Amino acid sequence: MNGSLRQRKKVTRIALPTAVLLLVSGAVTVQSIDPAAAAETTLRAAAAKAGLFFGVAASPNRLYPIVGQEFNQLTPENDMKPDRIATSSGGLQNTGGADTLVNHAQSNNMLVRGHTLVWHSQAGALQGASQATLNTFIGNAINRWGSRIAYWDVVNEALEDNNTGRRRTQWPHTMNRDANGDGDFFDAGDTDVIRDSFIRAKQVVQAGGLTTKLCINDYDVEGLTVQGGTQNRKANALYDIVRNYRQYIDCVGFQGHFNDNPNSIITNDLQANIQRFADLGVEVHLSEVDIDDDLSNNDIGAGQAENYRKVVRACLNVTKCTGITVWGISDSESWRSSERGLLFTGGNGSYQKKAAYHAVLDELNKGRNSTPPPTTPPVGPTTLPPTTPPVTSAPPTTPPNPTTGCSATVSLNSWTGGFVATVRVTAGTSPINGWSVQLTLPPGATLTNVWSANRSGTSGTVQFSNVSYNGSVNAGQYTEFGFQGTGAATGLTPVCTAS
Ligand code: XIL
Repeated sequence: MNGSLRQRKKVTRIALPTAVLLLVSGAVTVQSIDPAAAAETTLRAAAAKAGLFFGVAASPNRLYPIVGQEFNQLTPENDMKPDRIATSSGGLQNTGGADTLVNHAQSNNMLVRGHTLVWHSQAGALQGASQATLNTFIGNAINRWGSRIAYWDVVNEALEDNNTGRRRTQWPHTMNRDANGDGDFFDAGDTDVIRDSFIRAKQVVQAGGLTTKLCINDYDVEGLTVQGGTQNRKANALYDIVRNYRQYIDCVGFQGHFNDNPNSIITNDLQANIQRFADLGVEVHLSEVDIDDDLSNNDIGAGQAENYRKVVRACLNVTKCTGITVWGISDSESWRSSERGLLFTGGNGSYQKKAAYHAVLDELNKGRNSTPPPTTPPVGPTTLPPTTPPVTSAPPTTPPNPTTGCSATVSLNSWTGGFVATVRVTAGTSPINGWSVQLTLPPGATLTNVWSANRSGTSGTVQFSNVSYNGSVNAGQYTEFGFQGTGAATGLTPVCTAS
């Protein structure tokens, strides 16, 4: 990063809380002159009020009080990476640091993001491992902490640099095979480490009845465009992955390491890009935010604060943007300290709030949708020619009938030789405590995998019923289950019965 070579001027700009003394009925009280009288005074409280988490990357040696005071989500900065905890056969080792972080999070009511299961970097003993070994590790890691981990980064940084839109070519992506040579890894006969890792992770979550959500995480995917208005092909490629594997992917992390690399700037279409992912039904997180002071001409005062405002506002304006995590507490303790991209100065437990901190707090306190979306017209989702076979998010084949016990609709993603279906079970005008769904598969179609439901039969007429955690559905609410199969599955007509 060229910025790190630059001589930086020291900016001492510490905003102090302003207070006035008021005489009320003879008693002296101290009252903030902040116009938002009920404003929260910590990031976590303000975020919680707005309906999202505000987190921090942390290490066991930096669990200072500020961690639990300001943040309500924690991502181990390094302690859950394979080079720390994986053995070459996919077992676990040295989990002490990770345990400390999970315990700390739990006792401070913080969510945990597990980071990360499958990654080309910091792979340690897993470097070069087979999918089978990765699957073993995925199972061991998810099961060790279970639902204490709210979100797991299952796959990290799968896409190449420099806005090519391609997968990386180093392990584990060397396992990928494009069987029919059509330029993607989405077909039934293809091998895709992303799909296979997510399928495994989903199986583990389902088998354990865990609440853990499964995320894919990457950087330079934040905007619809990059510098100069060029399409962000890396973001489009991530979008295609999530669209194709939506059945396994619950959340997407845009890392948000913003800097002056042309592919890493803050663009005005950040919100529109968050929105298009959210429209796929996944949660979106800004998962590793830091904002290089190069993006504010080395100003870590008002200029950087303005950049933070923009980023936080983009998330707040999209309901399914459910969390923001900064990649460390203070500039000097950051992995990229020369960028001075975080919310605090200081170190070793003694921190001072930067202007950026106050801007973020203020923006969070304003809540969601306080300002209209940016005036820049949003660029369409993928104006590039589709790189994937058409995926049909078919309209529901059966219209929901709100007056009966329950109704079911199916949406289908199909490719040559296979399909994935998501079935939505909606309760009618009364709550239900259990449900079953029957449907008939066309000749030649066979189920290979089911999640969030019990199933009887694999072909012809098949019956699904709720599992322990999704049988109760409130009036008008819904739950979803899914299945995967080979063959074609057109014209499915699910029939729902409530119990
Ligand atoms: C970084 C850590 O912050 C450093 O301490 C470590 O030396 C390298 O990794 N994207 C990610 C994170 O997903 O895991 C990286 O964390 C930063 C970039």
